[in-house]
Amino acid sequence: MEKKNIDWSSLGFSYMKTDWRYSRIWEDGQWKEGGLTDKAEVTISECAGVLQYAQTGFEGLKVYETVKGEVVAFRPDLNAERLQGTCDRLIMPKISTEDFLAALDELVKANLAYVPPYGSGASLYIRPFIYGCGPVIGVAPAPSYEFRMFCTPVGAYFKGGVKPIRIMLSDFDRAAPHGTGHIKAGLNYAMSLYAGEMAHKLGYNENMYLDAATRTYVEETGGANFIFITKDGKKLVTPKSDSILPSITRRSLTVVAKDYLGLEVEERPVAFSEVPSFAEVGLCGTAAVISPVGEIHTKDGDIKVPSGMAEMGPVLTKLRETITGIQMGTVEAPEGWIHRIC
Ligand code: PLP
Ligand code: COI
Repeated sequence: MEKKNIDWSSLGFSYMKTDWRYSRIWEDGQWKEGGLTDKAEVTISECAGVLQYAQTGFEGLKVYETVKGEVVAFRPDLNAERLQGTCDRLIMPKISTEDFLAALDELVKANLAYVPPYGSGASLYIRPFIYGCGPVIGVAPAPSYEFRMFCTPVGAYFKGGVKPIRIMLSDFDRAAPHGTGHIKAGLNYAMSLYAGEMAHKLGYNENMYLDAATRTYVEETGGANFIFITKDGKKLVTPKSDSILPSITRRSLTVVAKDYLGLEVEERPVAFSEVPSFAEVGLCGTAAVISPVGEIHTKDGDIKVPSGMAEMGPVLTKLRETITGIQMGTVEAPEGWIHRIC
């Protein structure tokens, strides 16, 4: 398969239209036959549930070319399951894991020319989503839905790749207790845009959100979970909260930390007051992979993370190398983590 003429190593995290996307419609109480389409635009009712009441949920996962030239996805079954949870919470019809994986395979095989080559540092980002496309004027679930999955080649989420970033402690809350913080609902991101823009204007890449109830504990950023490394370099600590997204990267890193690097892992509420005591701070997620944080701005002064602004700290570097090695086939993966497409 001849690759597209793309400068893979200079890709950022932005949308590039590829040749094919997958689409499947749910109406009259059932999913119709789905398939590929070359139409990148959608036409829906002006009164669609997604337009009026933000009835939409999405996923994000990556596909890689491995060292052996295979094309694989990283734990896509977990994205399928998380999307099912999102659909339950937003009263949308669910796609089975089997159908999700079949759509992924079909989509990727049709767009193989866009899979970045091994060693380029880029990957093929997959964006599956389900939204209410049928009309609703009273507040209610839409009568029809589209499940759609497109792909776009991407590089690093934050400019500079693995260079440490600056973030700020937000005055806004991201998710309420018993709300929708634990699902991947579009509405969570719409309401984070204002805080995100404020952070960017002030020169910060992201926001650190605290728990909305007590503003005491660290939650997550707009698009990634936190991981912290203790000063002795022996322990990974990560926030536990019912209102953060259960990151697949974070769940995988806890296994990598324990089983591959021999670290201790603590998943527990992390008080913001503890943050200055950690040696390394990272954001983790599909898009972020592991992005090191060098500085956290607060109104009471800046927290300088000991690992600094020059480069990623040693433990996060090892974690990043191991997880990307698993994804690219240079490190043996735990059973069931790698889904081979072709
Ligand atoms: N938290 C939020 C709010 C996110 O949007 C994401 C991205 O999906 C993550 C965390 C990381 O999750 P994952 O590792 O499954 O991509
Ligand atoms: C992802 O990491 O896949 C996400 O969906 C995060 C998003 C903010 C880009």
